[in-house]
Amino acid sequence: MSHDPLANKQQAWSALFSEPMSELVQRYTASVGFDQRLWRADIEGSLAHAEMLAAQGVVSADDLADIRRGMAAITSEIESGQFPWKLELEDVHLNIEARLTALVGDAGKRLHTGRSRNDQVATDVRLWLRGEIDRLAALLAEMQRSLVALAAVHTETVMPGYTHMQVAQPVSFAHHLLAYVEMFSRDAERLADVRRRTNRLPLGAAALAGTSYPLDRERVARTLGFDGVCQNSLDAVSDRDFALEFSAAASICMVHVSRLAEEIVLWMSQNFGFIDLADRYCTGSSIMPQKRNPDVAELARGKSGRVVGHLMALLTLMKGQPLTYNKDNQEDKEPLFDTVDTLADTLRIMAEMVGGIEVKTDAMERAALKGYATATDLADYLVKKGLPFRSAHEVVAHAVKNAIARGLDLAQLPLAELQQFDARIGEDVFAVLTLRGSLAARQGLGGTAPVQVRAQIERHRARLRGV
Ligand code: ARG
Repeated sequence: MSHDPLANKQQAWSALFSEPMSELVQRYTASVGFDQRLWRADIEGSLAHAEMLAAQGVVSADDLADIRRGMAAITSEIESGQFPWKLELEDVHLNIEARLTALVGDAGKRLHTGRSRNDQVATDVRLWLRGEIDRLAALLAEMQRSLVALAAVHTETVMPGYTHMQVAQPVSFAHHLLAYVEMFSRDAERLADVRRRTNRLPLGAAALAGTSYPLDRERVARTLGFDGVCQNSLDAVSDRDFALEFSAAASICMVHVSRLAEEIVLWMSQNFGFIDLADRYCTGSSIMPQKRNPDVAELARGKSGRVVGHLMALLTLMKGQPLTYNKDNQEDKEPLFDTVDTLADTLRIMAEMVGGIEVKTDAMERAALKGYATATDLADYLVKKGLPFRSAHEVVAHAVKNAIARGLDLAQLPLAELQQFDARIGEDVFAVLTLRGSLAARQGLGGTAPVQVRAQIERHRARLRGV
């Protein structure tokens, strides 16, 4: 029998075990099929640990040199697809450690001094997620830039603003797009906040209680670029709330994406006809030759379901877990990985698609003219002429009722007729009743007036510069 403890899976922990693991149990408990994705973080964490062990005199300088050499070889093996991943070795950690020992001998066996897979995996996931958060932050910035760029050419493009999906008041298309920029900028803030709590070092907690070796945890934290060290060993190995938070932030972001995707689908339908999408984001139908379907937007909307589902999976996974580490936690990886992949792909494709939106400004404007969208402007006009708002509201309701009966827009009613509703109405009312007049009037902070929206665009551009 081999003296290499990792040569056989059933011997990875100790000679205590007297029978081999069944094939089913091996397959059921193994995670290497998916957690090998953590390999880079695993090696980075191991090197930082080894370097600290050497600095503290726990392992020799020669051991450290061997470990470094072995890890370099493993890195190229993995990168070139030559690494011999073994299911029997359960997970990424045991696979890499076993390979290291095969390559460099005893130094490989010393690497795990003062460490457990419990603090190791917690460290790996945090390191990996930190990198992914940075990648997602860049994609979120790209998404926002794409929306801002489209908004910049549509500050004067009028569309109906809706409440209850009924035409409410005219807004500019730019203003509408910038609402999403606000959402995505909050998503970016949320991710940055999650990053702060993710970026703390569990390593040094060992299995759960800490270790008797004179470890320098602060040093490892500095080497790995962590902002701090987890202060309680039990919490360090069992906490996954950084993953829950991330998953929640990702879900909210996907919900934002799905709202935008839904609007894109609506706007492209013949009933709106507000936009067209480039062919490369659409598919046809196998039976209806006229069809061009906005599949990409529909899928982005649909994929929010799986990301929200992963949040539920992670919350349920943690609920009721006693301290400290439990194997349940191995189940955190697939939902987390899929969340990252789905969000990253969705942001990338949506940013691209938004960049190629063709805007049908005439159709938007016609729709805005349809629903008496400037009725509030008429009421405000009367208020400025001295009528209390509630009375003005009532006067305008009568005017709209009359216009509907005659199939006309408010601006199409002759002045004399308008004056029958209130004598204060003068020739200057027509400026107020136009879509552009309505927009221009809303100059206050956050309003839809082109001057205000242009200022917002400048603010976003400055904010996104260098992000
Ligand atoms: N593959 C495991 C996980 O993902 C690593 C930690 C295993 N620790 C243990 N004591 N079995 O959680």
